[in-house]
Amino acid sequence: MMLDKAKELLTEVEAFNSENAEEIESFRIKYLSKKGGIVTELFKDFKNVPNEQKKEYGQILNQLKNTVTDKVSFLKQNLKSKDDVKIGLDLTLPGDSFENGSRHPISIVRNEISEIFMRLGFTISEGPEIEDDLHVFSALNFPPEHPARDMQDTFFIEKNPDILLRTHTSSVQVRVMDKQKPPIRTISPGRVFRNEAISARAHCIFHQIEGLYIDENVSFADLKQTLEYFAEEFFGKGTRIRLRPSYFPFTEPSAEVDVSCSLCGGKGCNVCKYTGWLEILGCGMVDPNVLESNNIDSEKYTGFAFGMGIERIAMLKYGIKDLRLFFENDLRFLKQFQG
Ligand code: PHE
Repeated sequence: MMLDKAKELLTEVEAFNSENAEEIESFRIKYLSKKGGIVTELFKDFKNVPNEQKKEYGQILNQLKNTVTDKVSFLKQNLKSKDDVKIGLDLTLPGDSFENGSRHPISIVRNEISEIFMRLGFTISEGPEIEDDLHVFSALNFPPEHPARDMQDTFFIEKNPDILLRTHTSSVQVRVMDKQKPPIRTISPGRVFRNEAISARAHCIFHQIEGLYIDENVSFADLKQTLEYFAEEFFGKGTRIRLRPSYFPFTEPSAEVDVSCSLCGGKGCNVCKYTGWLEILGCGMVDPNVLESNNIDSEKYTGFAFGMGIERIAMLKYGIKDLRLFFENDLRFLKQFQG
């Protein structure tokens, strides 16, 4: 008798159909409500079923419960798809394509330069952008009031004691010398700041990579060979370099380095201003004063240092005429670089 009733309910449930949310919900309540739902009540009565019918009856009850649950979720889903179509959502449309990002040209060039020096055994060091006078100037042989400080127009954050934005990443090398005994062979890429008017050729923010090599018997020939290797790896086989005497407080002797123009091969064009040469970096032998102020024995050790602006190198590599493009984040510009 109870068995027949359950079977009857099952047929009834299977036949149920609706496209109305309220109807579906009251169907669910009618059968499954914890208080007085038909299926719930039948489960409660289960103990009164004669033992020999318990097995079959139990199966039917479970089937009934599952059928109601499935029916409700099917009808709700059905309703949702219909709504989606109504609001114009077409699930058969192809998905939105999304664009892959690309590296900033400055990052591409920085990585490329870093990799070349890493092949020569240089490590990478980083340091803070907000610095003190010691790390940017004093430990690098800039005496107080030395006119060379004017070479680098500094942004000061505080005066006495001076807190400032680093004007070069040589400051990172002071930090390395502080922590590490020679041999030291490291490059420091990073952002630097100078109080300069913004133009196609200058910016108040730019990026540098500076290198430092300190060991016993490091000579000017080592410096030259390292730079020659770099120039050929970066600008291509056959690239030549030339060194012109220069001045930096932290190196003696100092030099400015040019590479043969990679665009005209040295014949002369408007990029190299018909000289056949492009200036790319400054370098020199570390001044003994710098070694001594960083507690390195200048009788035992010698070293070389060099520094270059990444923007300048990137402009030469890609033939970019205006430095400001690197900072504008115009996607039409940035999308042209892959790396
Ligand atoms: N620190 C110098 C600058 O920022 C570059 C440089 C580094 C020159 C090392 C010589 C040796 O202009």
